[in-house]
Amino acid sequence: MNALYSLLFVFLLVLIPLFGVGAAHLNSLFGASIPYLAFCIFLIGFVYKVFTWARTDVPFRIPTTGGQFKSFDPVMFKQNKLDCPQTGAQTFFRMVLEVFAFRSLFRNTAVSLHETKDGPVVAYKSSKWLWLFAITFHYSFFIIALRHLRLFLEPIPFLPVGALEFVDGILQIGAPTLYLTDAGLVLGVLLLLGRRLINARINYISYVSDFFPLFLILAIALSGIYMRYYAKVDVIAIKELTMGLATFHYVIPESINVSFFVHVFLVSCLMAYFPFSKLMHLPGVFLSPTRNMPNDTRAKHHVNPWNDPKIKAHAYADYEKEFGVVMAEAGLPLDNPENGKAPEEADA
Ligand code: HEM
Repeated sequence: MNALYSLLFVFLLVLIPLFGVGAAHLNSLFGASIPYLAFCIFLIGFVYKVFTWARTDVPFRIPTTGGQFKSFDPVMFKQNKLDCPQTGAQTFFRMVLEVFAFRSLFRNTAVSLHETKDGPVVAYKSSKWLWLFAITFHYSFFIIALRHLRLFLEPIPFLPVGALEFVDGILQIGAPTLYLTDAGLVLGVLLLLGRRLINARINYISYVSDFFPLFLILAIALSGIYMRYYAKVDVIAIKELTMGLATFHYVIPESINVSFFVHVFLVSCLMAYFPFSKLMHLPGVFLSPTRNMPNDTRAKHHVNPWNDPKIKAHAYADYEKEFGVVMAEAGLPLDNPENGKAPEEADA
């Protein structure tokens, strides 16, 4: 049901510019006002969220670890520098691999029950599919976004835009040449969608907010592909419009096909939706305390900034001095047996 609602909602979004431009000729509204408004919502919302997260106290060291901590015997117990980073540099490298290679997803495992002659046993095995779908999707999206800079820059810089266009179209299939990332994006979204639809357990925990961005991005990709390969839109006129938007002197040429307005309207919806959605994992990964903190709790003394300065710290040694007698009576072990003696006993 959640998938159906999301799909229907995206269909409705497609209809809005089709009527708005195709029938009501509100070209300036859909070509300039809505994209500007959406960009402002995106920028303000994004910055506001990031600032709020950055200002939030992180009173505890809570890095996620998956390997050996630095030990007193480095030969016998070798530190796993990436899975248990203890310095800023080690944490930085772990973060680089996380951001560029989705390393934690690569380490993903799936648990299943295996029937044996002695009964069922629990088995864990490596599961790389999600990583493959995710990396295809994200890299395709990223490269397409970078390639789009050619619409907003004049002259078009060879690095990264021209070079990416060249490599992306290197197979020279069809005219205009097929971009590998176009196929990658559509395939990536379909695989991620298929996973949520087909896997019963994932389907059970999927909300509209999980399906909607996938359908919306699919619609953006399909409208872009339609423009490039089928409608063969007037890219010169579109560049006039996009350069106008970038320089705040907007013009709306007449010869632009309505499919462009659909594409831009869907992108505007994505921009306006972005700061309020799960897509904020983009900046979130950098601000996640489980990722961006070195695991040095046994090497450094960290003080909780929430500690009330009026309350004096009570170390265990003091605690034992205060309650040692009753602890001894209750048969609890003491670090210092002297603390277990009553004062007169100790004096004697
Ligand atoms: C979320 C951001 C966007 C995504 C994912 C996206 C996706 C795509 C895709 C997959 C294509 C097919 C051809 C290609 O890969 O170049 C395309 C084409 C196109 N997009 Fe986008 N797009 C986005 C944003 C925009 C924006 C902001 C504009 C302009 C205001 C725009 C204008 C165009 C145009 C004019 C084409 C046709 C290019 C041609 O004919 O060569 N897109 N888009």
